[in-house]
Amino acid sequence: MSSNTGATVGALDTAAEIATLIIGIGELTTNTDEYGVLHDAALVVSGDRVQWVGPAAAAPDADHRVDVEGRAVLPGWVDSHTHLVFAGDRTAEFEARMAGRAYSAGGIRTTVDATRAAADEVLAANLRRLRSEALRQGTTYLETKTGYGLTVEDERRCAAIAAEVADEVTFLGAHVVPAGMSADEYVDLVCGDMLEAVADHVGWIDVFCEEGAFDAAQSARVLAAGRARGLGLRVHGNQLGTGEGVRLAVEYGAASVDHCTYLTDDDVEALAASHTVATLLPACDLSTRQPLAPARRLLDAGARIALASNANPGSSYTTSMAYCVTTAVLQMNLSVAEAVRAATLGGARALGIDPDADGAVGVLRPGARADLHILDAPSVTHLAYRPGVPLTWSVWRRGEPVAGTSGSWR
Ligand code: NIG
Repeated sequence: MSSNTGATVGALDTAAEIATLIIGIGELTTNTDEYGVLHDAALVVSGDRVQWVGPAAAAPDADHRVDVEGRAVLPGWVDSHTHLVFAGDRTAEFEARMAGRAYSAGGIRTTVDATRAAADEVLAANLRRLRSEALRQGTTYLETKTGYGLTVEDERRCAAIAAEVADEVTFLGAHVVPAGMSADEYVDLVCGDMLEAVADHVGWIDVFCEEGAFDAAQSARVLAAGRARGLGLRVHGNQLGTGEGVRLAVEYGAASVDHCTYLTDDDVEALAASHTVATLLPACDLSTRQPLAPARRLLDAGARIALASNANPGSSYTTSMAYCVTTAVLQMNLSVAEAVRAATLGGARALGIDPDADGAVGVLRPGARADLHILDAPSVTHLAYRPGVPLTWSVWRRGEPVAGTSGSWR
């Protein structure tokens, strides 16, 4: 816990924006070395930014004052891995899995058929519904992907729809090989016309490097094409077994390799020696009856980790980051602080966001984006201590209350 007396960006009395002082913060998680976790704290929001954080006793005046009466405040969740542009439902597949059938990449094609058949309005409405569901649970920054279109036109429209709603959009044309094409022919299309068609709507490219999807050579071609087009790189890897995903992600300097359920010692070492974030998806591991990813092993080795929901209709149909945090604590041996950090700052890092940059998310310090998650609890420990209880009390995004007691949905 920091003993400093707070810091300000700009002078409060001359700021053009209205400033709101939030007082009565029982516990403030800042994710910064400078402020750490503050108790009996206050925070000033001005415009869409945090303007000041520090002990309540040193808080400056502001135009407005909100008393959160001892509640815990943390950065909004940064969900760095979702697949929310889709149509259809896979309840039957889920039931079959719970009855013992194994998850396989092939289930993705069921959603591809439904997505191709859906009008843009249907896809957009479903995406907005799920984005709103996530926001109400504290997710203030969200990535989503294409990957259920798999034709040039379907991937293009999925990317355009995603770009209207999500904070970050990833092109995952290389999700699985669609029927009627060889993998190599399809990779040609992904790296050529499809990439060209989506490029204006996306910031990232991703590839599912896994048995039943794309091999290492095909995955490398996708990453190289994305890089040449100026996109950031991400990889789905090591989900269903050990494989080449992590190695490739590290070699290409990808921002993140996602799943990491099955890792060799070499994978863990390679991640620890790199800047590539290992993004762990515990809700997916549970929903596909896989082992949980080795979070403790990764952290102990010095690797960077993130936690994300992997919200999608097949392997992980939840938008709840709190559930991921709870699971990481109760079943993956992370401390609450480590899990919360992985679901906020870790997610931001997995999206290439520098926590020291102006307007950064995943941190609460002067100059960061004012994305706040206020819990109806005195500390973040309650996320694991009271599993399954909806603890979100209020959510602020870009300096505005958007959900909860002071938001529009109550
Ligand atoms: O991250 N691994 C590949 N893609 C998704 C699965 C999507 C689906 O089953 O529809 C995932 O789990």
